Amino acid sequence: MKTFSLLLLVVSPLSIVVNARSNIRDAPSTTVDIQDGQTGVVMVVPPRRTDTGTKRIPDADHPFIAPGPNDMRGPCPGMNTLANHGYISRNGITTFEEIIEGTGEAFNIDLTMGVGMAALNMLARGNAFVNKISIGGISPLVPPLPGQIDGPETRGIAAHGRGEGDASMTRSDVHIGDNRNFNQTLWDEDLEVLAQFGDDGPDGPATVFNLQTLIELKRQNLESDQVLDPEFAIPIRRYNLVFGTTGLATKRIISSFFMNQTFPDNWFRAAAPVLGGPVPGEILAALPEWVPGHNDENGVFVADPQAPAPFNISLTCATYWDNFANAVPATLVNVTGVFKQNVDMLEGLLFNASGCAEPVAPAGPTNV
Ligand SMILES: *[C@@H]1O[C@H](CO)[C@@H](O)[C@H](O)[C@H]1NC(C)=O
Ligand SMILES: *[C@@H]1O[C@H](CO)[C@@H](O)[C@H](O)[C@H]1NC(C)=O
Ligand SMILES: *[C@@H]1O[C@H](CO)[C@@H](O)[C@H](O)[C@H]1NC(C)=O
Ligand SMILES: *[C@@H]1O[C@H](CO)[C@@H](O)[C@H](O)[C@H]1NC(C)=O
Ligand SMILES: *[C@@H]1O[C@H](CO)[C@@H](O)[C@H](O)[C@H]1NC(C)=O
Repeated sequence: MKTFSLLLLVVSPLSIVVNARSNIRDAPSTTVDIQDGQTGVVMVVPPRRTDTGTKRIPDADHPFIAPGPNDMRGPCPGMNTLANHGYISRNGITTFEEIIEGTGEAFNIDLTMGVGMAALNMLARGNAFVNKISIGGISPLVPPLPGQIDGPETRGIAAHGRGEGDASMTRSDVHIGDNRNFNQTLWDEDLEVLAQFGDDGPDGPATVFNLQTLIELKRQNLESDQVLDPEFAIPIRRYNLVFGTTGLATKRIISSFFMNQTFPDNWFRAAAPVLGGPVPGEILAALPEWVPGHNDENGVFVADPQAPAPFNISLTCATYWDNFANAVPATLVNVTGVFKQNVDMLEGLLFNASGCAEPVAPAGPTNV
């Protein structure tokens, strides 16, 4: 997420294009299900928007207001921008529905893609019983899972390891520095690549991020972090993300999102719903030396083992497998009531989008 795909939470754009279905019900509702002093909230997939063309963003109802000291912000410039403009809650504590609706309204993210992002983040880093997640770190507004089955705190999307990871364009690896806030040094290095490979555009020479720039940026981010970060890792669940992009953009536009976490002046959202696209695959194909893997104890990059059969049929299915095997806490298998209802729905949405022949039960470590 802390990548060029600045719109995204933690999702692989490649993992959601296949076979996605969604069910449409009413608005989220609180229930009488009380567990560990918390009241369950039933999540629902919002209806598909009918207003899906381009329009100016932000509108008059969504002015920029800088976050206050207690507002959560995190590693994802896209989510931070949505919160700074009130497209999701300005305090940075959001919900399943709000992520889908906010990314849909402001960035024209397709419902299926929004659902995938929201579902994965909610399972890995949110509280799926009360339907709350922090776009930054730990917040008193997001309680631990009932029974503290994933440790004493719900950590939010800034926490390293499940989704948040290495080789980002503008945030340091967690083992090197600050993985949450914009890093000017990294951005300056990115801009040198742009100056070398970018196309000429309305804002001047070499200011447009073309495919070659994205390839060279990824090469630079990966090569540099692999050397600098002894614990460097790009597991397959992050692999698509590292290579992800939502399209081409200019230095002015990307700088506005990355540095100021606000929409650029006179900005219009995409003309059609955004759903993956060919660019991540093209970047990936241009860097065949980079496969999912991690540094060993000697700082040598080694490939991760492949996903086991039958989950090795595609990158999309293998990514789904990796998420459930390693990022979604195993203890979610035993939840009950509204908690189970929500978890089942989120798991079903992700399985339906995975292209896999069979589902994977959560098996990831807890309290990490
Ligand atoms: C910013 O990135 C540079 C280059 O990787 C690194 O040396 C520095 O420690 C980072 N700063 C922070 C605050 O993470
Ligand atoms: C960021 O905001 C400052 C203050 O409003 C402005 O001067 C600057 O041009 C902005 N930078 C970008 C890249 O949008
Ligand atoms: C998946 O793994 C099985 C068992 O290792 C292997 O026989 C099969 O060829 C693999 N399939 C793909 C598409 O790699
Ligand atoms: C789920 O509950 C079963 C039955 O009590 C137990 O054997 C199993 O270890 C539990 N699984 C997890 C991941 O907590
Ligand atoms: C997943 O797909 C199945 C088969 O079409 C459908 O019955 C189910 O409702 C879907 N699950 C979710 C959560 O949308």
